[in-house]
Amino acid sequence: MIIVVVVVNLMMVSLEVKAQTQRVPALFVFGDSLVDVGNNNLLNTLAKSNYFPYGIDFRGGPTGRFSNGFNIADFIGNLLGVPQAAAFANPTTRGPTILNGVNFASGAAGILQETGRHYGDRFSLNQQVLNFENTLNQLRTMMNGTALSQYLAKSIAILVFGSNDYINNYLLPTLYNSSYLYNPQQFGNLLLNSYARQIQALYSLGLRKFFLAGVGPLGCIPNQRASAPPGRCADGVNQMLGTFNEGLRAMVDQLNKNHPDAMFVYGNTYAVFGDILNNPAAYSFSVIDRGCCGMGRNQGQITCLPFQVPCPNRSQYVFWDAFHPTQSAAYVFSWRAVNGPPSDSYPINIQQMALL
Ligand SMILES: *[C@@H]1O[C@H](CO)[C@@H](O)[C@H](O)[C@H]1NC(C)=O
Ligand SMILES: *[C@@H]1O[C@H](CO)[C@@H](O)[C@H](O)[C@H]1NC(C)=O
Ligand SMILES: *[C@@H]1O[C@H](CO)[C@@H](O)[C@H](O)[C@H]1NC(C)=O
Repeated sequence: MIIVVVVVNLMMVSLEVKAQTQRVPALFVFGDSLVDVGNNNLLNTLAKSNYFPYGIDFRGGPTGRFSNGFNIADFIGNLLGVPQAAAFANPTTRGPTILNGVNFASGAAGILQETGRHYGDRFSLNQQVLNFENTLNQLRTMMNGTALSQYLAKSIAILVFGSNDYINNYLLPTLYNSSYLYNPQQFGNLLLNSYARQIQALYSLGLRKFFLAGVGPLGCIPNQRASAPPGRCADGVNQMLGTFNEGLRAMVDQLNKNHPDAMFVYGNTYAVFGDILNNPAAYSFSVIDRGCCGMGRNQGQITCLPFQVPCPNRSQYVFWDAFHPTQSAAYVFSWRAVNGPPSDSYPINIQQMALL
């Protein structure tokens, strides 16, 4: 009996995946280093790496993903059976390639224009929306208006923003004045107001299916733990994220009410990573408080340098460096975003959205 049920379930899954392949023509990815696939040269000298499948930085030397392997953008595409969205900055991202979607995400990028500026070049959210308009102009030469509207309406937009507005802005008072100007609640609302305008802009440009990832428990990344008591997360940091995450979830309700022809989904990043950190053994993780690679493995290092020897057992680590999840942790998040219950992906998951 049980075996039969499993086989039937597997068949249903593979049928659904087939249906999705037809239903989701493209992924358009916007965000920061969690979903960057090679759009940024700010870490040109730092982020050269040998770790497959790091991409190429098309404006300089090789950079690529901030991961020991695939990142969230890779896995979500993979789970949906959609070919990988090519990096916007790649000069070969032209012609038929863009029909599979484009990835605009850029390391250090934030919702706010100034976020991450101490790292140098990056595409902020604002610029990523402008870059999407550039891509749209190319798509207009490839199909008529009716076909383009249908294509955009069936495509999925993945947005992963907010972490840098805290880590590389609000929490760096020596470099940014935001924490003098706003209390945490005001700052969260400032982010939400800017975000809402850009999401509305993407809707106006024709996108209709949105996955909006909340911010994870940033107080638990090795870089922030370094300033917390031993064995603890920086609780104050985690607490200040509530305004943004709860506000984003409420925004999703509002957007769905205002736009019945569209679907907006909130990704509960905080809950999923919180679960991983609270129950690491359930996911075969054994190290949650330091990165697998990097100097000190817990301070400021944003990626693994070519001459550094990473830990031998990467799949047991939640964090690859002081800021970013390993491929294994990124997979857990992505799987739950695509397949999880409403407590992970609200009000429906990405797979259900794909089938709409
Ligand atoms: C638009 O393109 C589609 C697909 O190529 C085609 O079927 C349709 O007839 C075209 N519509 C117009 C108005 O040209
Ligand atoms: C805060 O910094 C921004 C630049 O990041 C600057 O434009 C602004 O004038 C500053 N505001 C105050 C009140 O210092
Ligand atoms: C990782 O591997 C090293 C070397 O085999 C071992 O000493 C260490 O205990 C392992 N770490 C974990 C968390 O299993």
